[in-house]
Amino acid sequence: MEKMDVVIKGKCFVDGQLAQRCIGVKDGRIVAVRADLDGERVFDYGHKLVLPAAIDAHVHMRDPGATHKEDFGTGSLSALHGGVTCILDMPNSDPPTTTAAALREKASIAASKSLVDFGLFAGITPGCDVELLSSSGAVGFKLYMAGTTGNLQVSSLEAVREELEAVAASGKALAVHAEDEGLRIKGAESSLGDHLRNRPNECETSAIRKLGESGVGGLRTHICHVSAKESLPLLEGMPNITSEVTPHHLLLDMDSKLEGFGKVNPPLRRRGDRQALFNALKEGTLDIIASDHAPHTTEEKEEDFDFAPSGIPGVETLAPLMLQLVRDKHIPLSRFVSGVCERPADIFGLNKGRLELQRDADIMVVDMMDSTEIRADRLHSKCAWTPYERLSGIFPKAVFLRGKIMMEDGTQVGERAGREVVEREKSRGIAGD
Ligand code: DOR
Ligand code: ZN
Repeated sequence: MEKMDVVIKGKCFVDGQLAQRCIGVKDGRIVAVRADLDGERVFDYGHKLVLPAAIDAHVHMRDPGATHKEDFGTGSLSALHGGVTCILDMPNSDPPTTTAAALREKASIAASKSLVDFGLFAGITPGCDVELLSSSGAVGFKLYMAGTTGNLQVSSLEAVREELEAVAASGKALAVHAEDEGLRIKGAESSLGDHLRNRPNECETSAIRKLGESGVGGLRTHICHVSAKESLPLLEGMPNITSEVTPHHLLLDMDSKLEGFGKVNPPLRRRGDRQALFNALKEGTLDIIASDHAPHTTEEKEEDFDFAPSGIPGVETLAPLMLQLVRDKHIPLSRFVSGVCERPADIFGLNKGRLELQRDADIMVVDMMDSTEIRADRLHSKCAWTPYERLSGIFPKAVFLRGKIMMEDGTQVGERAGREVVEREKSRGIAGD
């Protein structure tokens, strides 16, 4: 067999199992998986794990509009150190990503700064041109059913029915922030308990029920950040809907003593919710794990609780925290890989997420024996804090993006090479090309 550009050797996760293999890469793609291969560059990781790199299907990179909190450069550097080679960015930036011009403008910003590959969600608003947004490269669509950071909530599903029908026709997924605005309580808040009272579990279950009853045929609905235990039986009854859980809803709750730093939508709930989510993750009721990386500055989070913005950073700690759960035998490795690699790739149509022929050679190398303490001052997000301070995490030793080594032993080694994951229709001549 001809020589590979790059060969990565180790204990590889292939076809659902670990086996000592060589991954052969040419032109950025996996072209061979064999016991032995020859290459221009050979990376031999011995018995360390060679896994598909993670996909974080839910991030807010704040670019454009709030680059004092994060930008595609710092956010993607943070992603890279956490083993994430593909980020899917949400539309509640400023300007919001609800027009083709805003989408292309964001794509050109991301292409000029991002170290990892990226996809961009378009936001659903009444009258938005779904077909044009889709052909302009939207990786999927985002629907906000309640108010949160940004101003994208819709008044009802009826108000965007035509747009949702167009999303169904596009074949792309509709990611939903499922909280029912009508069930929010608008009282003043001074604690995480108050924040939970104002956004009770029924807010989420009611929104999920409404989505189930919306009757838009063929819509591929994906429920973001499921947080309430009562949502789980509803999801089990909706086999065509996919769902996501965040590390913060799995690992933190209203008693976590985080004050404003734990303020997030949907809120941190009770211990019982957390445990139920954990079981649902193990059983596969919840499909993917995504960080909902939503950085805000320390100053903003230290403001009076009522005024502190909602959101928790997490793109860099997503895979390390979940790998620690694997090490502690709370979830099997296969569930980790399906939750942060395989299923996100399936749901959003990405040619990544598996060590198989013709997929992008996006790879992370992991030493399961090497847990470290998570410390904000070792992370790379511009917001410079983490709610997981001093928890243990397993950070990757090396990360490859399309066959190119980008991070080694905690240091960025590759040049910036992030690309948009969606091939768009080029003929329309949209701004930003
Ligand atoms: O807590 C949140 N923060 N929830 C969201 O839906 C948005 C996010 C943000 O962008 O800050
Ligand atoms: Zn979000």
